[in-house]
Amino acid sequence: MPKIKEKRMEEVRTFENTFDWHDYNSKNPFPKGSWNADIFKNENPIVLELACGKGEYSTGLAKLYPDKNFVGFDLKGNRLWVGAQRALDQDLDNVRFFRAYIDHLDQFFEKEEVSDIWIIFPDPQLKKDRKKLTSPKFLKLYRPLLKSGATINLKTDSQELYEFTKEVIKEQNLKLLKDIKDVHKECPDDPELSIKTYYEKMHLEKGKLIKFISFRP
Ligand SMILES: C[S@@+](CC[C@H](N)C(=O)[O-])C[C@H]1O[C@@H](n2cnc3c(N)ncnc32)[C@H](O)[C@@H]1O
Repeated sequence: MPKIKEKRMEEVRTFENTFDWHDYNSKNPFPKGSWNADIFKNENPIVLELACGKGEYSTGLAKLYPDKNFVGFDLKGNRLWVGAQRALDQDLDNVRFFRAYIDHLDQFFEKEEVSDIWIIFPDPQLKKDRKKLTSPKFLKLYRPLLKSGATINLKTDSQELYEFTKEVIKEQNLKLLKDIKDVHKECPDDPELSIKTYYEKMHLEKGKLIKFISFRP
């Protein structure tokens, strides 16, 4: 493993704005339900970014919305390091990062603790529908954690994931709020959609169209 990657994976564990979770069967479970009172120390809404990678959305949205709290989730500590370091450098106290499997989200959040979810360029899992972060299996995991009126927002380059998600929305009779087939052509000035992540920049360089779906689960 390259030294910088290893160093960041170690270092991110010491960051005051990052949680690093390894023991899913721990006798000391995560104190879910405490995000507002003990972690952010305010009553502002809590918004999740899943598969956040280097956390461009968590920090970008945190700057746009200082009256909301953001938690970026990813498995890879070396990627989280980049977002967490950016948040520390910019004194963003409404952002935290969490290194863990998204599959265990219900160990970290209490019922109705979350206001919205952003899923930004998740792995499209072309052959495994159950692993797609907008699959019925994952929606079942998210639903109890969400407040009434919450939205799920997906940005992707993958035509397959885009179509799959629309099919899930239709099959489950969910409310589709936004369906944008070419973000940068249709909404060039939208401050939320103008945030560009590491993967988005790579896809744009290859000439791919970036799609966005927002829906109510
Ligand atoms: C294609 S990258 C996108 C990263 C970032 N959102 C971006 O746009 O640059 C997908 C990310 O999802 C993370 N990931 C995939 N499955 C995961 C899971 N089950 N739990 C946590 N993170 C996961 C990977 O570690 C990776 O960083």
